[in-house]
Amino acid sequence: MAPPVAREATESDAELLLEWRNDPQTRVVSRTTGLIPLDRHLGWLRDVLASPSRLLLVVEVDNEPVGTVRFDHNSDHKNGGDSWEVSITVAPKHRGRGLSGAMLAAGERILTQRQRPAYILAGVHRDNAASAALFQRAGYVDVPAAGEFRQLRKTLS
Ligand SMILES: CC(C)(COP(=O)(O)OP(=O)(O)OC[C@H]1O[C@@H](n2cnc3c(N)ncnc32)[C@H](O)[C@@H]1OP(=O)(O)O)[C@@H](O)C(=O)NCCC(=O)NCCS
Repeated sequence: MAPPVAREATESDAELLLEWRNDPQTRVVSRTTGLIPLDRHLGWLRDVLASPSRLLLVVEVDNEPVGTVRFDHNSDHKNGGDSWEVSITVAPKHRGRGLSGAMLAAGERILTQRQRPAYILAGVHRDNAASAALFQRAGYVDVPAAGEFRQLRKTLS
C-alpha cells in the first residue's frame, strides 16, 4: 500500500468531510455531538478554508481519501509559544488498519513546513482509547486537564 499523502481540502470535499464528521463514532468522542446539517457545514468549511489560522487537510492513499487532519491555531498562548490544536478522523471504512499514525505524520509535516509551532495539542475524549494510543505513539504526552477530555501535547521546539 502506498503511504498516505496529505493535501489541502477544497469545497469539493464538503460532502465527504460532513459524512465523516456525522459518523456516530466520530460524534460520540467530539466536543459537539449533534448531527451537523449540510448548510451549516458548508458555512463552516468556507470559513476554515479562508482562515490563515486553520489548516484543513484530506489524506489519500492511492488517490482515495482515507481521512482528514485539521490544525487550528490556538490563540490564547497560555501554553507558552505558538500552539496549534490537531483533530483527526479516519474514514469509517478505513479505521483499525493502522493508518492513523502515518496520516497524522503527513499532516504534521505540512503544518511544520508552513508554520513554526512550538506545540501541537490534542484534546482526546477519555473513552477514546484508539486516539490516545495514536497520539502517545506519535510523541504526545498528557498534560493536566479536568473534564471529559484529556489534553495531550507534543513539543516541537
Ligand atoms: C481515533 C482514530 C483516528 C484512530 O484511527 P484508527 O485507524 O481507528 O486506528 P489505528 O488502526 O491507526 O490504530 C491506532 C492505535 O489505536 C489502537 N486501536 C485501534 N482501534 C482501537 C480500539 N477500538 N480500541 C483501542 N485501541 C485501538 C491501535 O492498536 C493503535 O495503537 P498502537 O499503535 O499502540 O498499536 C479513528 O478511530 C477515528 O477517526 N475515530 C473517530 C474520530 C476520532 O476519534 N478522532 C480523534 C479525536 S481526538
